[in-house]
Amino acid sequence: MAGIEIKELTLVNEVAKVLSRGLDFEEAVSEILKVLYSFWGAEASFIAIYDRNEKVLKIVKAFGLSDRDVRRAIFRKGEGITGKAFKTGIPIVITDLASNPAFLNKTRIRDRLKGDEVFIAVPIKVGGDTVGVMAVFKTFSSKESVEKGIESLMVVGTMIGMFYRLSERIERERREWEEERKMLQEELRKTYSIHGIIGVSESVRNLIEVVKKVASTDSTVLITGESGTGKSLIAKAIHFLSGRKDKPFVTINCAAIPDTLLEAELFGYERGAFTGAHTSKKGKFELADGGTVFLDEIGDMPLYLQAKILRVIQDREIEHLGGERVIKVDVRIIAATNRDLEVLVREGKFREDLYYRLNVIPIHVPPLRERKEDIPVLVEHFLEKFNDKYGKNVKISPEAMEALMEYNWPGNVRELENTVERIVVMHEGTVRAVDLPPHILAVRRRGGTETLQNLPETIQATEKEKIIEALEKTGYVKSRAAKILGYTLRQLDYRIKKYGIEIKKF
Ligand SMILES: Nc1ncnc2c1ncn2[C@@H]1O[C@H](COP(=O)(O)OP(=O)(O)OP(=O)(O)O)[C@@H](O)[C@H]1O
Ligand SMILES: [Mg+2]
Repeated sequence: MAGIEIKELTLVNEVAKVLSRGLDFEEAVSEILKVLYSFWGAEASFIAIYDRNEKVLKIVKAFGLSDRDVRRAIFRKGEGITGKAFKTGIPIVITDLASNPAFLNKTRIRDRLKGDEVFIAVPIKVGGDTVGVMAVFKTFSSKESVEKGIESLMVVGTMIGMFYRLSERIERERREWEEERKMLQEELRKTYSIHGIIGVSESVRNLIEVVKKVASTDSTVLITGESGTGKSLIAKAIHFLSGRKDKPFVTINCAAIPDTLLEAELFGYERGAFTGAHTSKKGKFELADGGTVFLDEIGDMPLYLQAKILRVIQDREIEHLGGERVIKVDVRIIAATNRDLEVLVREGKFREDLYYRLNVIPIHVPPLRERKEDIPVLVEHFLEKFNDKYGKNVKISPEAMEALMEYNWPGNVRELENTVERIVVMHEGTVRAVDLPPHILAVRRRGGTETLQNLPETIQATEKEKIIEALEKTGYVKSRAAKILGYTLRQLDYRIKKYGIEIKKF
């Protein structure tokens, strides 16, 4: 009987090979059933796994059974031979399939059997737990031993059980990992917003953190960044997140008010302090008492006033113009500028001591071109705002969004906001890339389905050529070249500078 044992060994060996192929559980099970057929002659077989939620055994894969029959075959614990093998954890063998009432024929296989098949159901076990059942229909020849068959099936069952546990664990880990990945991604994609400051970039997120932290203090804040990056917005956010939010937020634009008026505006004056001062008037610092003073464009403040501002910051005291009384003020100071104060200090245009007094908490807002990942959320935000305002439902196509992301936005968020407003006003439905203003498309390289020929670039190149041509013709006498071109001298000068044309002297 040695031959049979070798046959059984081959079976186990083949199953081990399948399991080592790195398949997933269902694929592996399907291959094992094929092995049971080709190496052992099992005409039909299936593997059922217990579903802990539904509390039933469900066939995972079958061989030699129709799909419809497989779907029908669901076993409760203890139900039929399969259910019994599962419940008791011991193998069950039926030799009289045709007449045995315990065989429920759920898979309808009896109708197709020859009558001499043996039905073996072995539990699939792992570490004392039964997780499912492997069922096999096989005709045994007189030389084959059913006992040996059961023994090898038990071994295969254990191998499947171990593989099942492993797959379960891998699947669980994969799911956990997937969930974690999703959460992280969501976290990354989440739009950060506080008091109208919107963004997803690292810099905006950090900025929002700083804004939240400094809001609760009375520290002086200096906000720097290019024009239109959101400095004023940040100053307001700080005020409205602070304990001073119910008190005034007073903005003083140091660049917009003429020097002569600025001092009176800031500090107030007494009657008769200067010609025209018929009454006394409170200054902005007094008006802001208890609240926040926002000194916008502080870089443009004249030097003599800088000393007075320094005094307010140091002593929280002011004096009216033409008055002698010292007035105490309780204000928080936030300053902003798009100029480089350090350079102004070096050039002697800004007091160094004031610079240090202001720069207690510096907040730098990077230009939009350095945080392009903020562009889509800002576009969506402004779309919503202006669709609301104009009662429209304008959308942006993905290609148009791409073009908006490629553009450099020298005017930063303000330019983006104005652009979106114009788009909403001018268009209906979905805006394509070709609908965007030409200067935005000009940066797009050729290629891309929606891209226009770069008209503005072409025009500029031609214009430059024509100017050089005219200059050559006139021996670089600009006034004559301008006449040929139909430009004023100023217009020509502007273009010479713009295109970086070299003026040859003769
Ligand atoms: N992160 C942002 N989220 C939403 N809106 C923004 C953001 N940054 C700027 N804006 C909007 O862009 C416009 C320009 O911003 P803001 O006036 O604050 O810029 P600024 O830096 O003060 O410019 P300037 O230097 O010219 O004074 C405003 O309408 C503002 O609401
Ligand atoms: Mg501003």
